[in-house]
Amino acid sequence: MKVVVTRKIPGNGVKMLQDAGFEVTVGEQDGPMERSKLLETIKGADGVLGQLQDKVNEEYLTAVGSQLKIVANFAVGFDNFDLPALSSHNVIGTNTPDVLTEAVAEHAFALIMAITRRIVEAHKLALTQGSSFGPEVMLGMELKGKTLGVLGLGRIGSRVAEIGKAMGMNVIYYDVKQNPEFEQKVGAEFKATPDELLSASDIVSVHVPLLDSTRHLINADRLKMMKPTSYLINTSRGPVVDEVALVEALKNKTIAGAALDVGETEPKWAPGLVDLDNVVLTPHIASATTEARSAMGELAAENIIEVLSGRPPKTPVKKS
Ligand code: GLV
Repeated sequence: MKVVVTRKIPGNGVKMLQDAGFEVTVGEQDGPMERSKLLETIKGADGVLGQLQDKVNEEYLTAVGSQLKIVANFAVGFDNFDLPALSSHNVIGTNTPDVLTEAVAEHAFALIMAITRRIVEAHKLALTQGSSFGPEVMLGMELKGKTLGVLGLGRIGSRVAEIGKAMGMNVIYYDVKQNPEFEQKVGAEFKATPDELLSASDIVSVHVPLLDSTRHLINADRLKMMKPTSYLINTSRGPVVDEVALVEALKNKTIAGAALDVGETEPKWAPGLVDLDNVVLTPHIASATTEARSAMGELAAENIIEVLSGRPPKTPVKKS
């Protein structure tokens, strides 16, 4: 059977597929595979190990052919999947939950600390001026005693909440589902609406999936609800934040700063964002640890091996 891995991945995933006896093709290009090349390369595959930039829709599924059994996303998010199209073609979709939770939560905290302690600004200053103590140089904000608002209490949001608690923060959260057990365990407080969370937080960390109901969840009106001293962190999906509105809010000091790992129209940032000092940006690398990315490839490979061997996948995607 034929498996296509649309882009080179770290770890043992490809070897696992080869050892299982599949004929494996791996995309060797630098970036995501260009659409027409992708549609050509996946043709005839029984399983595809794909990237979050690969839109898995009617066009894609038709291009692969009716022998296709599984598309294993190399990502926990699967907003690139057209779920009704997958099910009408009888194709299983899988994702990579759990194995990247720690990496993403730690990256959210790296961004929180980078923006509140002005690490990128300070690095630039240190390069031009050397190291020189000044009583008022690069004043930032301490985290202990501040309020961390976790928007979306899934696996990653929960871990961010735990880390915040360990750092002495007051943790509040909003989710479509209240979780009294988690509140008890971690000492977090539920807010009944995103608006209540936004107005009470010193740091807002976004951890919701991209759905119709979460697109532009953080818009101009909601940015205005945040404290002028507060920071917005996004390691989920770019379109959850109206990035043009965010640029305005950062320019006007409606909020103090933002740290983003994801963009609304990747790979490009909204005009003006990169010129601001009160911003820290990383290029969608929150899960980029050797541990997490290797485990993601291996879990995706396991899903393909299971399905092509006639067994159920370990981590099928579930509609939210
Ligand atoms: C990355 O964004 C992922 O969803 O795993």
